[in-house]
Amino acid sequence: MAGGGSRLWLRVLLGVFSVVLLLCGIGTAVGTWVWTRSAVDTRGEVDFVNRLAVPPLAQSRIDDQGRRVFDLRAQPGQRDFGQGGPTPTWGFNGDYLGPTLRAKRGEQVMVNVVNGIGRPTSVHWHGMHLPAAMDGGPHQMVRPGATWSPRWKVDQPAATLWYHPHPHGETAEHVYRGLSGMFILDDEPSAALALPRRYGVDDIPVIVQDRQFTSDGRFDDSGSFGGVGILGDTLLVNGTVGPYLDVTTERVRLRLLNGSNARTYDFGFADNRAFDLIGTDGGLLERPHRTGRIRLSPGERAEVVVSVRPAERLVLRSYPPDQGVGFPVDRFTGGDDTFDVLELRAAGSLTPAPETPDRLVPVERLDPASAVETRRFQLAGFQINGRSMDMDRIDFAVTRDTTEIWEIKKLDGIPHSFHVHDVQFQVLSVDGREPPPELRGWKDTVLLAAGDSVRIIARFADHADPNMPYMYHCHLLAHEDQGMMGQFVVVEPGQRPGRPPSGHGHAHG
Ligand code: C2O
Ligand code: CU
Ligand code: CU
Repeated sequence: MAGGGSRLWLRVLLGVFSVVLLLCGIGTAVGTWVWTRSAVDTRGEVDFVNRLAVPPLAQSRIDDQGRRVFDLRAQPGQRDFGQGGPTPTWGFNGDYLGPTLRAKRGEQVMVNVVNGIGRPTSVHWHGMHLPAAMDGGPHQMVRPGATWSPRWKVDQPAATLWYHPHPHGETAEHVYRGLSGMFILDDEPSAALALPRRYGVDDIPVIVQDRQFTSDGRFDDSGSFGGVGILGDTLLVNGTVGPYLDVTTERVRLRLLNGSNARTYDFGFADNRAFDLIGTDGGLLERPHRTGRIRLSPGERAEVVVSVRPAERLVLRSYPPDQGVGFPVDRFTGGDDTFDVLELRAAGSLTPAPETPDRLVPVERLDPASAVETRRFQLAGFQINGRSMDMDRIDFAVTRDTTEIWEIKKLDGIPHSFHVHDVQFQVLSVDGREPPPELRGWKDTVLLAAGDSVRIIARFADHADPNMPYMYHCHLLAHEDQGMMGQFVVVEPGQRPGRPPSGHGHAHG
């Protein structure tokens, strides 16, 4: 019976069709749900009810050898961030983050680092020019209960640096729990400029971190599926959720530090007003760059000066950052996210402040013609040049007091930021073009965006040690932990690289 047969076929077809439709519907719904949920937008939704915590300036003393000595103790703690319960944390000299260390160019400093967290850790001075043995990387582990006392001479321009643990494979966790802090360097040229400089008054540290909280208030570090590690939907600024800052002066300087594990921000103000970018990772710019946005990938810093009007409320915002990755990866790596970060509350009458000077400090340009070596670094698959970090392998040696050009290229479609220890570098080109104004100052970390190739130049001065390596790595901490890191040594002319100290997690004590 042909008619019955075709009716049956029709019914089967209709049945299949409706199942397919249903599945498509479910698929689309799930897809839409995942897609929608993966973008965060907190514009107008943050209650700015908590006064911004300003990390205290670390106490220091001068010892009998004239050194400025600080004490930092990594310790467990608890803090109520108002997210459903007390959060177990780690902090330096407190429950979350650490004090701001501050020293002047020319000073000898020493830091007594005490490990009270019950797990091996280390403390790295990000952005600092110093001997490799003092750098606090994975070869300078501190055993639980032990003290490590690195010392060095501060010899670099005034800058906003920071410190954080660097245990191989566990940096993400240690930083996420709260171990980091700011390290401000001063010098004479910067002190002579008419810039806001009263710490906590018109010169404000702004450490921005995203966190994901569980319903009972713990830090959720289970990670996202965008391949970058942890992205959170709640911002902490200096450890404060929903922060406001009382502003009493016409101009305020913000020292922005992206202390997040994976998230890139594009900072600006809610009303899009322009501000002066005055400094980047390694110090002040030659002249201020007037802009409405400054993008910071994990580890990067920027100093900005913003003008406020009496009695206004102004919101610092993070706009969706261009991370140099496309659709749809951007969506799952924070590229579509918008955050209200910090509210500035201006007093009814403001203390006058001078205009930002239009010349800041001379920045000597490193000459590409003086480079003795050009090296290439290809980033892909959590590896650099096809190799994973190996504590026992020195990847290459640089000769002391020479200048090198490094070409960094990313080959996969996810965000990476490239960081080099020991030096401050200059960006020569981004995708073969002149770097934009915000990349013309001293840098130690750079986002690989756009067409993904960045050329940098650095001079490896002063400190040589054939056996103790410095690190270079992606500063997305999950990538670093997975091995997207390498080691170089600085050697005397003609010297060959040696071997790193043996024994992983070898701890001082
Ligand atoms: Cu901020 Cu190797 O680190
Ligand atoms: Cu570093
Ligand atoms: Cu990376």
